[in-house]
Amino acid sequence: MRLKTLLLIVLVFVTAHGAAALEYVMVATQNTCLLFKVSGKKRLEQLYFGEKLKNAEELKMVNLPTSAAYSTFGTDHTFEAALRAVQLDGNTSTELVYVSSRTEKKSDNLVQTIVSLKDAYYALNVDMYFNAYQKEDVIEQWSVITNNQTKNVTLHNFASSDLSFSASSYYVTQFCGTWADEMNMKEQRLTEGIKIIDSKLGVRTNQFTHPCFLLSLGQEARENDGKVIGGTLAWPGSFQFCFEVDPYKNLRVLSGMNPYASTYTLEKGKSLKTPALLYTYSDAGTGLVSRRFHTWARQYGLKNGNGERSILLNNWEATYFDFDEPKLTQIIDDAAKMGFELFLLDDGWFGNKYPRNDDDAGLGDWQTNTKKLPNGIPYLINECHKRGLKFGIWVEPEMVNPKSELYEKHPDWIITQPNREMLTQRNQLLLDLSNPKVQEFVYNSIDKILTDNPGIDYVKWDCNRYITNSGSQYLPAAKQSHLWIDNAAAILAVMEKVAAKYPKVCFMECSGGGGRMDYGSMKYFDEFWISDNGDPLQRLFTQWGGQYFFPAIGMASHVSVSPNHISGRSTPLKFRFDIAMAAKLGMDLQPVQMTETDKEFSKNAIQTYKDIRSTVLLGDLYRILSPYEHNRTAYMYVSADKKDAVLFNFLVRKRIYPDNENVVLKGLDPQKHYTVREINRESYNNRSRFSEYEGKTFSGDYLMAVGLTFSMQNEYESVVIRIREE
Ligand code: DGJ
Repeated sequence: MRLKTLLLIVLVFVTAHGAAALEYVMVATQNTCLLFKVSGKKRLEQLYFGEKLKNAEELKMVNLPTSAAYSTFGTDHTFEAALRAVQLDGNTSTELVYVSSRTEKKSDNLVQTIVSLKDAYYALNVDMYFNAYQKEDVIEQWSVITNNQTKNVTLHNFASSDLSFSASSYYVTQFCGTWADEMNMKEQRLTEGIKIIDSKLGVRTNQFTHPCFLLSLGQEARENDGKVIGGTLAWPGSFQFCFEVDPYKNLRVLSGMNPYASTYTLEKGKSLKTPALLYTYSDAGTGLVSRRFHTWARQYGLKNGNGERSILLNNWEATYFDFDEPKLTQIIDDAAKMGFELFLLDDGWFGNKYPRNDDDAGLGDWQTNTKKLPNGIPYLINECHKRGLKFGIWVEPEMVNPKSELYEKHPDWIITQPNREMLTQRNQLLLDLSNPKVQEFVYNSIDKILTDNPGIDYVKWDCNRYITNSGSQYLPAAKQSHLWIDNAAAILAVMEKVAAKYPKVCFMECSGGGGRMDYGSMKYFDEFWISDNGDPLQRLFTQWGGQYFFPAIGMASHVSVSPNHISGRSTPLKFRFDIAMAAKLGMDLQPVQMTETDKEFSKNAIQTYKDIRSTVLLGDLYRILSPYEHNRTAYMYVSADKKDAVLFNFLVRKRIYPDNENVVLKGLDPQKHYTVREINRESYNNRSRFSEYEGKTFSGDYLMAVGLTFSMQNEYESVVIRIREE
């Protein structure tokens, strides 16, 4: 639909309905629509959310059931509420009435609607914001709660959004796990009552669960059909999704910052802006949800989301803390010869009084360790640059070890409760970012590293613990519960400042693996580290889960050593490469420990990746066989012009007989003709079960109707196929 036509519909319109005039507010994208109605009592109610109707006027012809667009506690609402505010006079209720709404076209693709609500008695306002991304069919919703009174008000609940659904059944998929086992998908049917998906960790909030959900209406979520909503909260702090099915089988979904232990005093004249829930409604299953999020994220969700990415070699698993200048120079030399584009120096390069030779010292002291690196970081940068490699460096700026000069100087900067034992995780403490001086220190630490060492092209920003003992030595006693929100808001502000000053430096968001993966922080990062676990079989599941909301261009995936340091599993180099090549390729391996044959294979694989990189990183993802349901996993990326595609196949479970599962391709142009070839073959034994198809040309129509049938049999076997219009 043309945007002009759309805007006409988006405008608030007034309809004669008997004597009373009813107002409606519509938030629409190219294919979806969210319609609100202002009821007789001036309450804003959600009337409809779903596929765009040809004639939205029909929604107004009968009295369809509605539900509060932003429910409040204390009047006639008997379920969990979006807003619970307590006034100084003791009134625990809020009654929001509709004031006005306005819609503005921010760009060709972005239409913003703001709906203003106000308490019927108190000067407490709620503005609901909706950014409707037209092409991507993504809606970004948040709210701003403003206290216009002369007295403070206490907020106990402050959701970003309050969406309602009415279907015969509801199925929710969550993404959960723990360190080295992130992003497992679990689906369950909702019954009457409440299901909460949340994090109470404050920092590194996604260690156990990610701020994402899939909600399927009427049936379990399917890849290519069915009504599914995908939602994700753009917030690095504690979050909560609350799914409540009422006795009439209606579902309300409250999303936002976790209200748990986070009572917030809103002073007179002040506002609280909640983080945005990003969501999309698909009537064609979860595949479309993912493709929409990927397209949206490349454009709006990641820093340089459509930009270039370098194939890097990281020394973490290669050396851990045990390195010096000659060792690193050797790695840099090998990396350049193997075709890598960037060398990333990980943890262990800093600290002098308390050298960072293990994870128990040095965090906070961001000065180069002169014993390990006598010529400093500039020497390494130069060694890289003269070999045509970029240089990257690791930081963990929000943390401090008790064994550090920083802690000696500022014991008052850490998060801890008075009169309690100081609790460490990985021997470290969290800096209290609610304190502006600490914010300044964190920003300055990164700024100084980057200005003292010109030529740093890449920064890996790590974060290895969450909040326990949640006390702030900065906040007053009455505002201790603000720590959860203030700390997360402060880290976002620091990230924003860093990204603004260094737009050309590539930033990787890492948190002991995938502990910090949210679109609130990701817009300041080019890529993210989804897991410390490089075991390819495990990675298959982690990347599979991660792909639902996050695009391949951001998903750093490294080939690691075999046997794997975390799982102990031995796997072929090709299998490890193929999984890493299905995302943003890198390596965490010491080249001097590799055989010449493996080095040669790696060199070729890196070259192959360079050929397919733009299709994998910028293409549309089509999932074909799920590792949860099949012995074989298969998915493919198709370039925007549909001239090129790459199909990845991995054998997940080896059985006695070969796996001959038919792989029916998707996303191609039925009219085009494609030549299929296996790539990244194991050149040293030249084995391919794909030989019958090799080099043959098929129509897109054939490939999407008949598909490819070839056997896979061996443990840890993978086959990558290029499908190209030649
Ligand atoms: C955790 C990260 O996830 C690893 O990749 C590595 O950077 C270590 N921290 C370093 O301490």
